[in-house]
Amino acid sequence: MEESRHIPVLVDEVIDSLKWLKGGIYVDSTLGEGGHAQRILEAILPGGLLIGIDQDVQAVKRARENLKKYKENLLVFERNFSEIGTILESLRIKEVDGILFDLGLSSLQLQDAHRGFSFQKDGPLDMRMSENMKLTAGYLLNTLSVDELVEIISKYGEERWARRIARIVVESRRRRPLETTFELVRIIKNAIPRSAWPIKIHVATRTFQALRIAVNDELTVLEKTLPQAARFLKKGARICIISYHSLEDRIVKNFFREYKKQGLKAVFPKPVTPTRRELQMNPRSRSAKLRAGEMC
Ligand SMILES: C[S@@+](CC[C@H](N)C(=O)[O-])C[C@H]1O[C@@H](n2cnc3c(N)ncnc32)[C@H](O)[C@@H]1O
Repeated sequence: MEESRHIPVLVDEVIDSLKWLKGGIYVDSTLGEGGHAQRILEAILPGGLLIGIDQDVQAVKRARENLKKYKENLLVFERNFSEIGTILESLRIKEVDGILFDLGLSSLQLQDAHRGFSFQKDGPLDMRMSENMKLTAGYLLNTLSVDELVEIISKYGEERWARRIARIVVESRRRRPLETTFELVRIIKNAIPRSAWPIKIHVATRTFQALRIAVNDELTVLEKTLPQAARFLKKGARICIISYHSLEDRIVKNFFREYKKQGLKAVFPKPVTPTRRELQMNPRSRSAKLRAGEMC
């Protein structure tokens, strides 16, 4: 598998916003390959503790390897971030100085054809971030009704051609179950008239995003986790969240609105987005939005 290391997004902005305290306790809830984690560790040393969480066994392996020189100050958990409360309680940690969520997928996940996340690589229709997830994208595509597929593709992908895509999926699986990402890409291309293909994104982007969100129950998990995480912010502590699409960002925005009453003050009036320089160096950062809050 040809691959390049994940380039952390908005990393300087995250480091600036987390308001560094040497020797503090921080949580990286989406460890990935450890790009942000490395910068956090460099900022808190000497002393300090970073708790890293990722539900993907491969990510955890890679992060442990990439961060091995910091192992005295790092604890890694292969868990869903919805368990942040249980993890901190198991460590008898009552409050932390900062928490980061860098949502979505890492390059490692996207580049591995076997994971089925990419419409540019042929692989099985899997899309699970963790082997603990029960359903694969293939299972959903081969078993749900047209209406259920429309619900997923339109709600989580905001795809206006959802019904045509769902109908062709169901017609096609009558002949033979769908097995690969390229089969799905072909169906999407047939379902959407050429003249309606989006210009800035691949024609399959929205449907792939929708299936990934459904398989990993991403939005429900995020909605439930943010309030849990907020409970552990000490006075003056900060929470940083990088989202990559409007559905995630809406949840983050609502979270900040609701937690204003509990003393969570937005650090920036508007979300921070990558500079032109970052966009040139890392086009994958293009949809990123960073929001940060400080517990007062
Ligand atoms: C964009 S990557 C993070 C990259 C990381 N900041 C870096 O610099 O290498 C997102 C990571 O979050 C993980 N992830 C997404 N949702 C998760 C969840 N609910 N629980 C735990 N990990 C999750 C994914 O497996 C992925 O490795």
